[in-house]
Amino acid sequence: MLRKNHSAILVSFFFTACLWAQQKDKIPEVEALLEKMTLEEKIGQLNLLTPGGGVATGSVVSKNVEEKIKAGKVGGLFGVAGPDRVRMAQELAVNDTRLKIPLLIGSDVIHGYKTTYPIPLGLSCSWDMDLTEQAARMAAKEATADGIMWNFSPMVDIARDPRWGRIAEGAGEDPYLGSAVAKAMVKGYQQNDLAAPNTMLACVKHLVLYGAAEAGRDYHSVDMSRVKMFNQYLPPYQAAIDAGVASAMSSFNDIDAIPASGNKWLLTDLLRDRWNFDGFVVSDYTSVNEMIAHGLGDLQAVSALALKAGLDMDMVGEGFLTTLKKSLEEGKITEEEITVACRRVLEAKYLSGLLDDPYRYSDESRPEKDILTEENRALARKLATRSFVLLKNHNQILPLKKEAKIALVGPLADSRNNMLGTWAPTGDTKLAVTILEGFKNVAPDATISHAKGANISDDPEIAKKVNVFGSRIEIDERSPETLLQEAVEAAKASDVVVAVVGEATEMSGEAASRTDISIPESQKKLIRALVETGKPVALVLMSGRPLTIPEEFEMPVAILQVWHPGVEAGNAIADVVFGDYNPSGKLTTTWPRSVGQIPIYHSVKNTGRPAPEDRFQKFKSNYLDSENTPLIPFGHGLSYTTFEYSDIKLSNSEISQGESIEVTITLKNTGNVDGEEVVQLYLQDVVRSITPPKRQLKGFNKVMLKKGESKQVSITLSDDDLKFYNSDLEFVSEPGEFKVYVGTDSNATLSQSFTLK
Ligand code: NOJ
Repeated sequence: MLRKNHSAILVSFFFTACLWAQQKDKIPEVEALLEKMTLEEKIGQLNLLTPGGGVATGSVVSKNVEEKIKAGKVGGLFGVAGPDRVRMAQELAVNDTRLKIPLLIGSDVIHGYKTTYPIPLGLSCSWDMDLTEQAARMAAKEATADGIMWNFSPMVDIARDPRWGRIAEGAGEDPYLGSAVAKAMVKGYQQNDLAAPNTMLACVKHLVLYGAAEAGRDYHSVDMSRVKMFNQYLPPYQAAIDAGVASAMSSFNDIDAIPASGNKWLLTDLLRDRWNFDGFVVSDYTSVNEMIAHGLGDLQAVSALALKAGLDMDMVGEGFLTTLKKSLEEGKITEEEITVACRRVLEAKYLSGLLDDPYRYSDESRPEKDILTEENRALARKLATRSFVLLKNHNQILPLKKEAKIALVGPLADSRNNMLGTWAPTGDTKLAVTILEGFKNVAPDATISHAKGANISDDPEIAKKVNVFGSRIEIDERSPETLLQEAVEAAKASDVVVAVVGEATEMSGEAASRTDISIPESQKKLIRALVETGKPVALVLMSGRPLTIPEEFEMPVAILQVWHPGVEAGNAIADVVFGDYNPSGKLTTTWPRSVGQIPIYHSVKNTGRPAPEDRFQKFKSNYLDSENTPLIPFGHGLSYTTFEYSDIKLSNSEISQGESIEVTITLKNTGNVDGEEVVQLYLQDVVRSITPPKRQLKGFNKVMLKKGESKQVSITLSDDDLKFYNSDLEFVSEPGEFKVYVGTDSNATLSQSFTLK
């Protein structure tokens, strides 16, 4: 009897201990505050407003913000910047409210604060996680110097549909690379100390699957199997959470027919119970209210749904502010649910040091010391050079000689307004270096003649839609024929032509989906005419997404893909065009031949009827009018030198569960200049219980090799790298054969096999 009691006590002690271990320790300062708070004060903390100082991404902007702060009805603000303005806002909260709780000040610092660096899709092409972290660290230093301590970044949505304009804001199509980028960015923003004055709370977004919007149309529905979600789309969000991200943003789309902001499976079962996330969740811009249009009820109903699902903060819509009390009175929600959300918001304030010092980020001496410094601009230039991808280089047209006679043409060659890229509201287009300026800076001895050659688009309707944040597409007063003629004459009088073509800044980004993702016809005509001159032509291609360029890719040209490079655009492009930096970027998205192939990505499955590679076959999985293969594969990117891969070796031919395996190859720089190469490892799980992708990226290593140099390059596959989510959503590996492919892109052929026992 005594023994039985004894063991029962032990068991109950064990369970209590486990429960305790799972729960985050409560923060005494926060608990003390909560004790004092009224219901209204708690609800006030859940309200995030914007006075409309920044870029409003919805049709609503908050009203009477000052009065609401003073009345304790606001937990945070965005669209307010500058230590003085932030101090003023904090003073309203601190001096005029009973409990003196400071505000969280947020912002979208997506690719640099004032020192804008390449759009995230471009930066991901560096495959350089140290540099990515440095970039985020610089952004945090600048933003915090300007009063902001909460960043709506990183955006880690996997995107496999380049029609979707927001593909520009993420790291592309691959969950493995996307997870590495997510982790590096969170680390860069937060640096393990949220209270340091130069770090900020990161916010992983948009949970979840926002990048899988149907037909590539922004905000559209998403419907996806759990197996696909877990294996292909969720890993980057989880990586950010594992890296300690302080907050998360729910997405606009629905998941299993319930919009993310009201989706309990997502916000509680997955996020809290499965992933152990202990930060707070903010909605996207009015996404709670948007559940009305989704068809889920009135504002009171959708706000209650969101709170009960696990949403903590309501961005701009004020549904929480105006309806939660009523819902509580009607028994539709509990006070505990409000308290839990409020606790999470207050904990973030505590962690960022605001409860200690509301003016921690309001040091007026900082902007001058920390923002747009020479050092920061140098980093932005370096980051841009690393983001460029040399898609082709016919006859080694690039790099150019610094004394060359160059026709620098195209609508983006001297277009300051289009250098920063989408989502750079804190950047200043006036500070951007144009390509024309960059060429003059880097190659002062070159003879450069410049002509616009074409409008970005000749269509005034498109121009109107794109020019929402300022003039991006300027339709010239001169006729398209005159523009083209001028460029052709400049080309004929030069040794070489550089044509800077592609998309204007706002042709990608939020609410900028396109059904035709080719280079606009006005510019295609220019490219054709330039090539017809017989002069060597290098295209510098600017865009926020993969484009369909089958015609241009066939031409005898060089193509340097530069995305939107940021404030140092012109200098960085000149660095690469003139060979001061040898390009090393690799695509993080597959480039389709046509829109009809979308979605297209490298980790595609085989199907039960795989098509032959070289021809059409009836009753096989192929098209009548296109090949299956993309125009340019994931991972592709050339260099001014060449690399040879050989000698693949595995540390073992057989391993057991729990063990790792090392893959080693010999890489030789066989060209005439030093260069960097991103060695990529793809893995095929030959037989498993659910249909496997043909191959998946599972490792990479960026290495520098002097000309003529050889190196052994190793990549270790961990136990986890062999795992996948099975039909029961368990993360497992299964015994059997695995094939490893190592090479310069996702078509890598150097291969070896091993067995998992
Ligand atoms: C809407 C966007 O979807 C989101 O990414 C952004 O953070 C918010 N607007 C706030 O600007």
